[in-house]
Amino acid sequence: MYLQSLSLLNFKNYTQIDVDFSSKINCFTGNNGVGKTNILDSIYYLSFCKSFFSSIDSMNINHSQNFFVINGEYQLHDKPEQIYCGFEQGKKKKFKRNKKEYDKLADHIGLIPLVMISPYDINLILGGSEERRKFIDGIISQFDRNYLYDLQNYNRALTQRNHLLKLYGKTGYFDVDVVDLYDNQLAEFGNRIFEKRKEFIDNIGPVFQKFFSHISQGKEEVQLNYESQLQQESFDILLANSREKDKMARYTTVGIHKDGLDLLLGDYPLRKLGSQGQQKSYLVALKLAQFEYIQMLCGFKPILLLDDIFDKLDSERVEQIIKLVAQNNFGQIFITDTNPARLNKVLEQIEGEYFHYLVKDEMLTKLN
Ligand SMILES: Nc1ncnc2c1ncn2[C@@H]1O[C@H](COP(=O)(O)OP(=O)(O)OP(=O)(O)O)[C@@H](O)[C@H]1O
Ligand SMILES: [Mg+2]
Repeated sequence: MYLQSLSLLNFKNYTQIDVDFSSKINCFTGNNGVGKTNILDSIYYLSFCKSFFSSIDSMNINHSQNFFVINGEYQLHDKPEQIYCGFEQGKKKKFKRNKKEYDKLADHIGLIPLVMISPYDINLILGGSEERRKFIDGIISQFDRNYLYDLQNYNRALTQRNHLLKLYGKTGYFDVDVVDLYDNQLAEFGNRIFEKRKEFIDNIGPVFQKFFSHISQGKEEVQLNYESQLQQESFDILLANSREKDKMARYTTVGIHKDGLDLLLGDYPLRKLGSQGQQKSYLVALKLAQFEYIQMLCGFKPILLLDDIFDKLDSERVEQIIKLVAQNNFGQIFITDTNPARLNKVLEQIEGEYFHYLVKDEMLTKLN
C-alpha cells in the first residue's frame, strides 16, 4: 500500500500543489516554516480524518481562503484508491473514498494505516503516565472495537463511583449497593483492559528492544515495563480493600486508570536521566515497534511519517535509522529535515528508490 500522489488546495500554507511520490522513501528538506510538516500533516489527515496537531479543521484552511481540499491517490492491495477530504468554513467536513462519501468518519479509520513520529511525541516520554496510557489505548482501540467499548464503560463507571465518593464526603451518605454495582462493573471492564494492555506490551517489548539496540548500536540497555496494581492482586479484591481509603480520599485510588509504563535506560528512569538524544532514540524505537504491531494486525505495512526526527541525534544514529527504515520490513516513508546535506549523505548509501524534494516558496522541487 502506498500513496502515489497528493494534491492540496488551500491547505495551510499551500495554495495549490500536486506532487508524486516514490513507493519507498520520500524526503522533504527546506528551511524552518516552509511547509515540510504541513505536507506530512495532510497525509496524516487522509488516514485519520483530522490533523495530527489540532482537532479544529478551520485552523488548516489557508488564511486567505474559506475551504481546503486534500486529495490522495493510493495503491491499496494493487488497486487504485482515491481518498478525498474537503472542508469549507462553517460546513461539515466531507470525506470520500473513490468519490463516495462516508456516512461516519470512523468507518474510514484503519483503511490507510499510518504511524507518525513527530517532535511533539516527546511528551510520551516527558509527560505524565496519562500520556503513556493514551498511547497504549490509542493503538489497541484502533483495531479492537471491544477494547474501546470496555474503556468507555470503565470510564463511565469510574466517574459514577467517584461521584458517589464525593457525595459521601459532602453528605456522609453512602449507598453500599450502588458502589458494589460499580465495583463489579469496574472489575469486569478493567480486567479485560488489563489483559489486553499486558498482551500489547508483551508483544511490542521485544520488538522495541530490537529497534533500540539497532539505533544505539547496542551501546545502551533499555526496558519497557508495564506497571499495574492488577499485577499484584485481583481487581475486585483491590477495590474491596481500598473502599475505606477511597471514602477518605473521595475518589477511586485503585484500578487500571492508575496503570503506568516504565521507561528505563539501564536501571534509571529515561525521563529524568536520559539525554535528549537517548530519549529521542527511545521514542523512535517505541514508535517503530508500534509500526510493526499495526502491521501484524492489519497484514500490511502502514505509511511511516518521520517528522524532524533527526534533530538531536548524532550522525551514527541518523544513519542507523535511515538504513533501518529503508529495509524491506518498512513500506512507504516520508521524511522531513532542515538539513539536505545530512539526508543526502545517507540516502546515497542506500539502495532502493527515493525522491528528494526541496520545499521553498510554497513549491516542491524534485532534487533527484
Ligand atoms: N492555516 C494556515 N494558513 C496559512 N499558513 C499556515 C496555516 N497554518 C500554518 N501555516 C504556516 O505554515 C508554516 C509552518 O509550516 P510547517 O510546520 O510545515 O513548517 P516546517 O517546514 O515543517 O518548519 P520546521 O523546519 O520549523 O519544522 C508557518 O509559516 C505557518 O504560518
Ligand atoms: Mg516541521
